[in-house]
Amino acid sequence: MAAAPVPFFDLKTQYQGLRKQIEEAVNRVLQSGCFILGAEVQALEEEVAAYTGCASAIACASGTDALSLSLAALGVGPGDEVIVPTFTFFATASCVRRLGARPVFTDIDPDTFNMDPRQVEDKITPRTKAIIPVHLFGQCCDMEPLWKIAERYHLPIIEDAAQAFGSEYQGKRSGTLGTLACHSFYPTKNLGAYGDAGMVVTNDRDLAAKIACLRTHGMQPRYYHKYLGWNSRLDALQAAILRVKLSWVSRFIDARIAIARRYDILIDEHGLGGMIQKPVVLPHCKHTFNQYVIRVNGGRRDALLDHFRHEGIGFEVYYPIPLHLQEVFAPLGHKPGEFPVAERTCKEVVALPMYPELSYEQQKRVVRAIAQFARSSLRAAA
Ligand SMILES: Cc1ncc(COP(=O)(O)O)c(C=O)c1O
Repeated sequence: MAAAPVPFFDLKTQYQGLRKQIEEAVNRVLQSGCFILGAEVQALEEEVAAYTGCASAIACASGTDALSLSLAALGVGPGDEVIVPTFTFFATASCVRRLGARPVFTDIDPDTFNMDPRQVEDKITPRTKAIIPVHLFGQCCDMEPLWKIAERYHLPIIEDAAQAFGSEYQGKRSGTLGTLACHSFYPTKNLGAYGDAGMVVTNDRDLAAKIACLRTHGMQPRYYHKYLGWNSRLDALQAAILRVKLSWVSRFIDARIAIARRYDILIDEHGLGGMIQKPVVLPHCKHTFNQYVIRVNGGRRDALLDHFRHEGIGFEVYYPIPLHLQEVFAPLGHKPGEFPVAERTCKEVVALPMYPELSYEQQKRVVRAIAQFARSSLRAAA
């Protein structure tokens, strides 16, 4: 009998475990008759602020909107520049561009996949308005050098913490490491809604007030419009669901970390260290493994993906192309070879199945499939 496929992600198992609590929360909202913002959203904001250790949290419609609202609150607009890594999800840079500003790309650190802080200072010009480090896959960017640069040039830092809810750097939670931080509650994130949702967290109460205003058409008071804002209100159903999941999030994160450790051990036990680079965790970081991303050496990544397809092993490639080479950014004039680490990384990485409910048996199947592939490619080379 063929072994069962291992999905890349599974949201159904978690729902079954939380079903009673989720249904109670959903019923509470349905009976309240209050569906947009309101008490449920405010309670979520307070709970996330307390979890993160921030003074203010402003819920919005998505992580993408959290970035746009943050940039708009800082006054980023046409002619401005914002420094971002080229190896990240599109939204990190698209939000900059949509406000009429220029995303100025940096290459990445080959071990952590995060923005290389050594490349940031050279990119600063009189037009630079902000720096956006991305805490990719659940590990915080190396912030210490960025803090020094930000202080020297009086620049705000916006953390793109979309993949790093609950991650820590030097004992501080993501969300407290910059001027503003943006979370995504996309369903597969560490804290995931059952739809789109996001949040900005900050210790700056003036920026928080501006973001809250921008999120509702820049309106203050009602029907008096101070800014050209937009509609990015969070609905109460998502907030109520997120509040249930927030009460579990530390356990979900612990499960992710345990699963990552098991992958590490299985990869070592199968002697795959020569072919695969496991995720590198910096000593002062708590990596929350929103993704477990390996690097496949020797130009064999795509052949491994074919083997995964054949074996029914779920996977995802984050990201197949760096942002500076995206078609939409062609007018920025970048060329292949400009950011070599990111370009090589796009050809070498693959994310393995990772979610809190992934079983040890499923993990063994994933790593056995890699070992089988390694043996057959060795035989082919002999
Ligand atoms: C690094 C990063 N930034 C921003 C976003 C955008 O978040 P959302 O999908 O909630 O709009 C994502 C979502 O995947 C992300 O991974």
